[in-house]
Amino acid sequence: MEIRDFGKKYSDYVIAMRRQFHAMPELSLQEYKTCAKIIEELGKIGITGEVIADTGVIAAIKGGKPGKRVALRADIDALGVTEQTGAEYASRHPGVMHACGHDAHIAMLLGAARILYDIKDELAGEVRLMFEPAEEIAKGAKKMIAAGAMDGVDSVFGMHVWSDIPAGKISVDEGSRMASADFFTIEIEGKSCHGSKPNQGVDAIVAGAALVTNLQTIVSREINPLEPAVISIGEFKAGEQSNVIAGHAHLSGTTRAFTNELRDALPEMMERVIHFTGEVYRAKMTLNYDMGSSPVINDALGASVAKQAVIDAVGEDALYHYEKTPAGENFSEYLRMAPGCFAFVGVRNEACNAIYPQHSCYYTMDETALIGGSMVAAQYAKNFLSMSN
Ligand code: NI
Repeated sequence: MEIRDFGKKYSDYVIAMRRQFHAMPELSLQEYKTCAKIIEELGKIGITGEVIADTGVIAAIKGGKPGKRVALRADIDALGVTEQTGAEYASRHPGVMHACGHDAHIAMLLGAARILYDIKDELAGEVRLMFEPAEEIAKGAKKMIAAGAMDGVDSVFGMHVWSDIPAGKISVDEGSRMASADFFTIEIEGKSCHGSKPNQGVDAIVAGAALVTNLQTIVSREINPLEPAVISIGEFKAGEQSNVIAGHAHLSGTTRAFTNELRDALPEMMERVIHFTGEVYRAKMTLNYDMGSSPVINDALGASVAKQAVIDAVGEDALYHYEKTPAGENFSEYLRMAPGCFAFVGVRNEACNAIYPQHSCYYTMDETALIGGSMVAAQYAKNFLSMSN
């Protein structure tokens, strides 16, 4: 049986799974019930799942013949959002919602597991199933890798349902797909004094205002205009009273880049601007830079295997070119260890009100598109394993 013929058999199963996981969302690093249910569902298929990285799950489907190892990954955590969809399967956990679609990722991977288990005798090698916790806080992939999830893996494939792409379409483009997502804080130490005599102090607000502007010139004047980058200050806290010069300011923000080279260069550029702006304004400025996740970059091999998988499993019409996006995704950590592909699975459909962006309290999806993701993931695994023999 070809993988494209499994659509009817498992579509209802994948939708039912998505709804069950949707109703029981858990925050990052607290995915205990989610893990227990994943292991239970894998058990029903005949697959033994094990807890890994505290709140993740790992499992294997062994093929009938020896060969390489391919990993399929789903992230499983939810967000601190209060659901407003009114769906009958809406979150039963107050203040927590699968608003990014990771419920669908679990369901699609379980669907792929069913398909692959059915055809396991034809597979040459092993399929590893990775259910990753804590993606939303960019910690899960590193934890999974540290626990050995990528050991011996020859290729890796992951998917994200995507509200900007029409249901039934899938993007598996080569190259940069998502940006790095790093975070920073800046502390500015000035000296407070009377607002009528600013010369007797050091104004942290004026220094901070200059710094915000100067930092923007890194992107506009220093970085190649053909290479996208973002430096955003999202927080600027300073001052207490209208006639007091602020002695301290606290800023925080995030950076984005689509190559590892630029991502790694950003902290030094910022450090220089921060240091000399501080000198100019006689304030002490300190940068704390926290590396979050690197950019998601699909290599040529992974993208071509995925493209063929889309064609084989759901048809060439499903292929969709989607421009890269500056959101972050820690799937990048796996792609730094093995060739592979990160796919965007379209779920947008006005007819079922699936028009809201990821992380919205109204977020929903055209669930009929999910089985396509399962089939493409299964096909990626099958094709990669057969190719490497
Ligand atoms: Ni997500």
